[in-house]
Amino acid sequence: MDKKYYILTFGCQANERDSETLAGILQKTGYVPAAELFDADIILFNTCCIREKAENKVLSQVGELKELKAEKPDLIIGICGCMVQQEKMAEKIHRRAPHVDLIFGTHNLDQLPELIKKLEETKTPQTQILADLQEIKEDLPTVREVPFKARVNITYGCNNFCTYCIVPYVRGREKSREPQYILKEIKDLVADGVVEVMLLGQNVNSYGKTFDPPVTFAHLLEQVNAIEGLKRIRYLTSHPRDFNVDLIKTISGLAKVCPHFHLPLQSGSNKILQKMNRGYTREHYRELVETVREYVPSASITTDIIVGFPGETDEDFQDTIELVKELRFDSAFTFIYSARTGTPAAKMKDQIPLAVKKSRLQQLMQVQNEISLAINSQLEGQVVEVLVDGCSKKDQAILEGRTATNKTVLFAGSKELIGKFVDVEITDPQTWVLKGKLK
Ligand code: 5AD
Ligand code: SF4
Repeated sequence: MDKKYYILTFGCQANERDSETLAGILQKTGYVPAAELFDADIILFNTCCIREKAENKVLSQVGELKELKAEKPDLIIGICGCMVQQEKMAEKIHRRAPHVDLIFGTHNLDQLPELIKKLEETKTPQTQILADLQEIKEDLPTVREVPFKARVNITYGCNNFCTYCIVPYVRGREKSREPQYILKEIKDLVADGVVEVMLLGQNVNSYGKTFDPPVTFAHLLEQVNAIEGLKRIRYLTSHPRDFNVDLIKTISGLAKVCPHFHLPLQSGSNKILQKMNRGYTREHYRELVETVREYVPSASITTDIIVGFPGETDEDFQDTIELVKELRFDSAFTFIYSARTGTPAAKMKDQIPLAVKKSRLQQLMQVQNEISLAINSQLEGQVVEVLVDGCSKKDQAILEGRTATNKTVLFAGSKELIGKFVDVEITDPQTWVLKGKLK
């Protein structure tokens, strides 16, 4: 009987993409997917460490598998992803969870079959963690769950060193993938039925700078836009420091690039932005938003904001609230600052008490929710084009999809529409979703 695998993925799109590679590698090795965790012969935790919460969740879930491992001694439990890239984390995991068999890093995915083999031969836990990516490995096998949408890596790692962020330490230095590999991958995906791609990088705007001659992100987008059969192009994440007018102009002229700009603001206070090492001011950010709205009037603009960064006073926080009210984002991911060991901000004086951070988060969310609802309400009665992703988790008769502006739309319809573009009339716009009916 075939051995079965189960992968739990935490964190961002980069991890989701890595899990597709892990699934591909396991299937090539002869494993098949397990319907549920308890059926699996190998369980992998692909982890995130961006905030402390993410890490604690993994450690507690791994802890819960102790009994299962005692019942099934041949079960392989592995931990990989960003969390294990942190200094001394492998030792910590071994100490806290001795039932873990494999620990491997974000640059060691391709070694998984070797590690499994060694584990089975030696019956001793295996650890393999490379600090940085030596060279980009092309053509690793991949299994995608959704046939019509795909994630495509364009850069790996990060050179920004925002003072709160652990990513540069766990994902290594930024490396761009050669355009010919990216374009070939997307052409193959389209031939396979993919209509929407999401180009992934920690800072997509700095794509291609190290090539000789350099290739810009704008030029890459132009080439992807020219691929026949592809319908939608998204990208994540942009950095406001490297986002410029030329890129906005290029995007405005490319029909397939979605009119959705995710521009992480992080803070509206110039003092805090500087302490975060973000490399832009609130004035620069405001100008970017204005330029986006000038060239792409239909654009939705979303953001990420951290509250309670060390030294953030009530005034600094009010600067954020004020800018949020002025710029009117379609939506915002809001986070409580979480000190990450090894980052400069974790050592800064004036860490903010949790109660203050929580209260600021509540205030910010309230302000943003009102704005989101007001913006979405303007869509009532309008017809939007939606790519249908699947059924709603709560109700199988309800379909869920996204507009080009990345808004979630819910409407009644049959499953045959999954993967298709449909027109939906918005009847009940809400803060987080737009409810509507098929046209
Ligand atoms: N604490 C809280 N939020 C963080 N982010 C990154 N690092 C931290 C941290 N230490 C947020 C940023 C980023 C998003 C992906 O996560 O807003 O844009
Ligand atoms: Fe993604 Fe960063 Fe979390 Fe890693 S640490 S999974 S790169 S968000």
